[in-house]
Amino acid sequence: MHSMAKLAAAVVVQVAVISPFAAAQLRADYYAGVCPSLEAIVRSSVKQSMVKSPISAPATLRLFFHDCAATGCDASVMIISSTGDDENANDYTLKLEGFQTILDAKAAVDSDPQCRYKVSCADIIALATRESVSQSGGPNYTVELGRYDGRKSMDRSVRLPHPGDNLDNLNAFFSTLGLSQTDMIALSGGHTLGAADCGFFKYRIGGNDQSMNPSFDAQLQGTCAKQNFAFLDDVTPIGFDNFYYRNLQNGRGLLGSDQVLYTDERSRGTVDFYAANQGTFFSDFAVAMTKLGRVRVKTAADGEIRRDCRYPN
Ligand code: HEM
Repeated sequence: MHSMAKLAAAVVVQVAVISPFAAAQLRADYYAGVCPSLEAIVRSSVKQSMVKSPISAPATLRLFFHDCAATGCDASVMIISSTGDDENANDYTLKLEGFQTILDAKAAVDSDPQCRYKVSCADIIALATRESVSQSGGPNYTVELGRYDGRKSMDRSVRLPHPGDNLDNLNAFFSTLGLSQTDMIALSGGHTLGAADCGFFKYRIGGNDQSMNPSFDAQLQGTCAKQNFAFLDDVTPIGFDNFYYRNLQNGRGLLGSDQVLYTDERSRGTVDFYAANQGTFFSDFAVAMTKLGRVRVKTAADGEIRRDCRYPN
């Protein structure tokens, strides 16, 4: 082959490998023929998980983000490796309730003889996440399906944003996933649910961060003296709404990476807009979740339909 042609071919291969947009095969009705009741089964299973534990919905949403952000939406975050070298090992704060919600939904899907071993764990995570959001009061968006499960999960493949990141770092991280600043701000609204360990924001309290409202600072000092966590949106911690943005306007964002979205003038306008328009936040969140769900998806060529979400087949 001519050297220029070789170079062009190499570039095409490389772009195909690193592209986060390998989403051609995803579609909403992917399982319509093989598992027509899929969405209803996952809906009902997630409903039961949410009744059992208030941590189920936030933990599931965070699980989806971490899975997609680490090595693509391939459920590799759920693999337990006998050597301990897996994405979990890196990400020690991922909560058990998220895993249990997915394992229960997978068991419910596989108990239907039509669906047994036909639906990927990655797709169950995506559907269970939508249910967690919508059953908490958030948008009920359409989920694209057809992801295959990865076979590998490695500690060192995990790159996640840091709670102390500034706007430039957050934008740089999300752009590697093919996501814009607006997508990033909408997705950060996922912090309308759940909690964070004090260790992630303790450096901000005690008057150390001028962007924090002093009464919120005092409140957090009291909270962390009693327990090791605080709610990311302490107005409505189990309701999916736009209070996350309204809190930021009042200096009541918990993580540095939350409050910086308001402190930095380049992102403040979007925060103000979502704080005033919950409907637009919901539709932008749905769009951004759909884009996040396309990151480095696997196909039959490089993935499988895992029987047990915790182990490769
Ligand atoms: C923008 C960059 C982000 C940073 C720096 C960040 C960081 C964190 C940290 C430090 C926690 C606390 C973990 C713990 O204490 O266990 C957390 C919790 C959480 N994150 Fe994020 N996160 C980011 C983006 C996202 C996105 C995009 C989503 C989903 C769309 C998300 C969903 C959640 C949820 C739901 C929780 C609560 C989990 C629970 O209560 O179990 N986060 N995040």
